[in-house]
Amino acid sequence: MANKKIKIGLVGFGTVGVGVCKILQNQADLIAKRSGVEFEVVKVAMRDTAKERDITLPAGAATTDWQDVVNHPEVEFVVELMGGTDTAYEVVASALKLGKPVITGNKALLAERGEEIFALSEQHQAPVYFEASVAGGIPIIKSLREAFVSNSVVNLAGIINGTCNYILERMTDAGLSYQDALKEAMELGYAEADPTLDINGWDAGHKAILLGAISYGFLPDPEKTYVSGIEQVQLSDIELANKLGYAIKLISVVKPASDKTIEIRTQASFVPQTHLLAKVDGVFNAVAMQGDEVGDSFIYGRGAGAGPTATAVIADLVDAAGSAAGFLPYNAGSYTVADIDETETAYFVSLAVKDEPGVMAQITSHFSEQGISFSGTFSNVDPSSPDAAMNSVSFITHKAKLGTLKRTIKGLESLDCVTSTPTFYRVESFDS
Ligand code: HSE
Repeated sequence: MANKKIKIGLVGFGTVGVGVCKILQNQADLIAKRSGVEFEVVKVAMRDTAKERDITLPAGAATTDWQDVVNHPEVEFVVELMGGTDTAYEVVASALKLGKPVITGNKALLAERGEEIFALSEQHQAPVYFEASVAGGIPIIKSLREAFVSNSVVNLAGIINGTCNYILERMTDAGLSYQDALKEAMELGYAEADPTLDINGWDAGHKAILLGAISYGFLPDPEKTYVSGIEQVQLSDIELANKLGYAIKLISVVKPASDKTIEIRTQASFVPQTHLLAKVDGVFNAVAMQGDEVGDSFIYGRGAGAGPTATAVIADLVDAAGSAAGFLPYNAGSYTVADIDETETAYFVSLAVKDEPGVMAQITSHFSEQGISFSGTFSNVDPSSPDAAMNSVSFITHKAKLGTLKRTIKGLESLDCVTSTPTFYRVESFDS
């Protein structure tokens, strides 16, 4: 049978856009043999057509106007890789209104404006594909939608921001400063154009929203999800965590909190060093998924960069060519996002304290008044100088609601013997 020929247009020609064109050129035979489809890039919109790039496009393909791509009569599929949520929305919405399938890597756009986009997709019968938007080269969306179609997701936890994972590792292993590690991640093309989104947790937060959508069939309200980043992580926190048998990782958790609510949160957490997620280093991403039938599954791979992300874009192009259905919110109205203060984990809590009699008793009785008990307590005992002042104390608690922990911490702050704002991390157990 003759190959199907599909003409595509690209909006955005940065690291990933160039990667898509290169793979389409270099692997054209393989893609055609495996999928029966030949893709031809006919129009590419970019900010600066004069910029030197390590690729040659067909004559007349380059433009600075996205409308030249979307409205081009020969362009059948539109690939949006420009980022941002304003112009990118116009690009995607215009393509869908023309009935053109859209392939995008834009997690912020889908997480923030998914409701409008999926409504247009349904109205105009034009699917939206977004494998590249979550965890780069890991086929997590395909796995959840296809391989695990028969399973309910009981628990999902992942490292889904390569930049933060890279920074945490370089700070720990190479002793780099936070700024130098971030600079490296930017030079390697891992970070977003605006790296604030990586560091403050929102890049992973947006991806967690999409994983929630795919897993539970509703569009989570971003404002109800919980997101914090790695800005507050100190090297001393990482060292202490390691001493206690944990790694600090930016973890996103998506799992049912009740019959009607889904817990969706991203934060720097303590991860037991025995868990596979603790072993995920550098730009690598991983998702640990527990399904009610399949049990535990673990998917690992490169989460950012040209090759992995472009690979995901091309998988979506092939899906679109086969007219596989895009995402539709089949559970709209059935779920909302769980109140973060009602979610439960264990916690690591660290306090700076005065070295005086009765300090431990005051602190522990304050925890027990709130119904929080401990699985361990640690203070800075140095065996070579047992007379040194005790100026900090740390605890690992049993599971408690975040709201209760926050109240406890507020109370601790007002104790005279506590000399700084307590810090805390969730200790993840990855159970349902
Ligand atoms: N900035 C993102 C990351 C790129 O570091 O994971 C891939 O989405």
